[in-house]
Amino acid sequence: MTAQQLYEALADSRSVVAGVAAPVDGSPELPGEEREFDLRMSRRMASVEQLLLATCRDVPDPRFADLTGHLAAGGGKRLRPLLVLLGAEFADRERAGVERAAVAAELVHLASLYHDDVVDEAATRHGAATANRRWGNRMAVLGGTWLLARTAGMAAGLAPGALALNAETADRLVAGQLRELAGPLPGELPIEYYFQVTAGKTAALLSMSLRMGALQAGAPPETVAALVEYGEQIGIAFQTADDILDLAPSEAATGKERGKDLLAGVHSLPVLLALEDRDPRGARLRALLEAGPGSRGEDWHGRVLDLFARSRAVERAGELMHERLERARKALAPLPPLPARGALDALCDFVATRIA
Ligand code: FPP
Ligand code: MG
Repeated sequence: MTAQQLYEALADSRSVVAGVAAPVDGSPELPGEEREFDLRMSRRMASVEQLLLATCRDVPDPRFADLTGHLAAGGGKRLRPLLVLLGAEFADRERAGVERAAVAAELVHLASLYHDDVVDEAATRHGAATANRRWGNRMAVLGGTWLLARTAGMAAGLAPGALALNAETADRLVAGQLRELAGPLPGELPIEYYFQVTAGKTAALLSMSLRMGALQAGAPPETVAALVEYGEQIGIAFQTADDILDLAPSEAATGKERGKDLLAGVHSLPVLLALEDRDPRGARLRALLEAGPGSRGEDWHGRVLDLFARSRAVERAGELMHERLERARKALAPLPPLPARGALDALCDFVATRIA
């Protein structure tokens, strides 16, 4: 599989993930095994999708099914369920509960998005009105909280350790979000702080997904540890790529408004790197960032984006992203050369391709 194929599979929100297998370097060509893997992943992703949509709407009072089913119906890459299924591939993948674990991982993600859209006062997600726009903040927060409660209920019926993992991940997500909102304390290094926030906000859920799949399928501890390390590293790379894309010259790659985070005053990695840059060539950008979006009389936004396009900060952020991807690929080394390992490797290419 090429990075492009994986990109297309992930970009098509509810697509089945066909063609994600790639031969792992050094392994023999196993076309039959890969074809079976593709078909199995397609079938399982389709069944997870059905279960997800049904679970989200399965509220005690059906009047609220549209609210609790809203974000799931809006689509998404379904990256977390995919990671659960890939994690399970390294052990007894057909064990009961693997697909429920995939649904549970997506539910934590969706719950956090209901809350995130309230925090960000976002009006749209995946091109549709957010729950807060449609039902108001109070209903949206409660809808998201119900999904989180539902996840805990599901995790309680899964492998030993799944419930604790679910709680620990929600804990890391909320702490990451709180730390982002609060900002670093005096004396804390902003870039180190950024990586801590990102580990909580983004990486925790990706590593949880792989771990849930592996645990549910009964994988040995060394396999679980390798997958967790992979998830932690690719999670940070993912967020860094998102930060870089926010400053990209075109909106095509994300479908999101260019410079949206920048205008919102988010201290993304390129912004932090530009603020730390002592090179005189970065002085204008630094001065504009320090002045902030409030000083927008002379098209602050456009000027900052133009300076970023030629900046060392974006280049450096790209290098740091590649370092994380390298660490993620390295983490896969102890795993057997199965098609699932090829897919995880290809996911690193996918992240890199997004900003290329
Ligand atoms: C998207 O961020 C949001 C997150 C990665 C997580 C947000 C976490 C919370 C709001 C804590 C609540 C958690 C639970 C489990 C209920 P973004 O705003 O950078 O991305 P976006 O552009 O997709 O909105
Ligand atoms: Mg947001």
